[in-house]
Amino acid sequence: MPEIKKKYYIIGNPVEHSLSPTLHSYIYKIFNLSCSYHKIRIKKAELKDFIITCRLKNISGFNVTIPHKETIIPLLDKVEDEAKLFGAVNTVKNEKGKLYGYNTDIIGCRYALKRSSWQQSGKVVILGAGGAARSALAALSSFTPSSVSLFNRTPEKARLLKDQFSDHLNFDIIAENVKFHNMENLLSNTTLLINTTPVGMWPETQNSPISDSKIIPENITIFDMVPNPVYTTLLKDAEKRGAEIISGLSMLISQAVAAQEIWLERKIPLETFNKLWTHIIEMSGQYHEHD
Ligand code: ATR
Repeated sequence: MPEIKKKYYIIGNPVEHSLSPTLHSYIYKIFNLSCSYHKIRIKKAELKDFIITCRLKNISGFNVTIPHKETIIPLLDKVEDEAKLFGAVNTVKNEKGKLYGYNTDIIGCRYALKRSSWQQSGKVVILGAGGAARSALAALSSFTPSSVSLFNRTPEKARLLKDQFSDHLNFDIIAENVKFHNMENLLSNTTLLINTTPVGMWPETQNSPISDSKIIPENITIFDMVPNPVYTTLLKDAEKRGAEIISGLSMLISQAVAAQEIWLERKIPLETFNKLWTHIIEMSGQYHEHD
């Protein structure tokens, strides 16, 4: 075994179920790099000490997850513009003791959309208004959707998001519940729907945020950010209707690839994405039964 030269981590709490070590270790295997990637549970009160250790010790970089994505910002030396604007960091690079922050959730979301055949314009509908919806809006800011409609069970949160992004995006409907709107009509004119709610996530895999699948038009792209299962009920329904689908796994892999591009300072080819996809699908046994 070659000596491990570069050490990377994911920090958060909880962090036990993170797929990141599997993804990043597989990238090192593909490129035959002597790097390691491990998870460490860091509680809120431990963050400052971890940062001090990171500067002193030979830690080349780390990913950041809940609950540290916002609180880490003032502890870093420099934060890339988009991550700063967005107010959240999920990737940190250590360059000779100086810590640089990035947000590859946004880059990953953008990569996932770019790889799809979504026309990068037209009306967009987003379900949910949490952190994942914020990443989606930040990613959409670099495309040219004609409008964005936000549906969330707590409409005040959707309005806050609208205020945050109104300089970059045109907003249309901001509402509480898809059921109170003529969703069928809205979707027939929509090019992209993004589900950022956890509805349909394991173990409640039978649920879908669009309960009547007949309203899904065939010429729409449906992006479900739920990472597990890979093929949610929403995605299976959408595929049956003839729509294009993007799985949450695509975003998860894309954000990991984007983090490696920052750490390794090299472009990672699409072929690597495909290898990672196959590896995760094989590991989790989540093959998609085509009808
Ligand atoms: P994240 O930060 O990862 O996006 P989150 O904030 O816990 O996750 O949830 C994302 C969104 O899904 C939230 O806007 C949440 O609605 P609230 O703002 O009302 O909390 C929404 N959400 C969570 N569970 C839901 C459910 N069962 N049905 C509909 N929306 C739900």
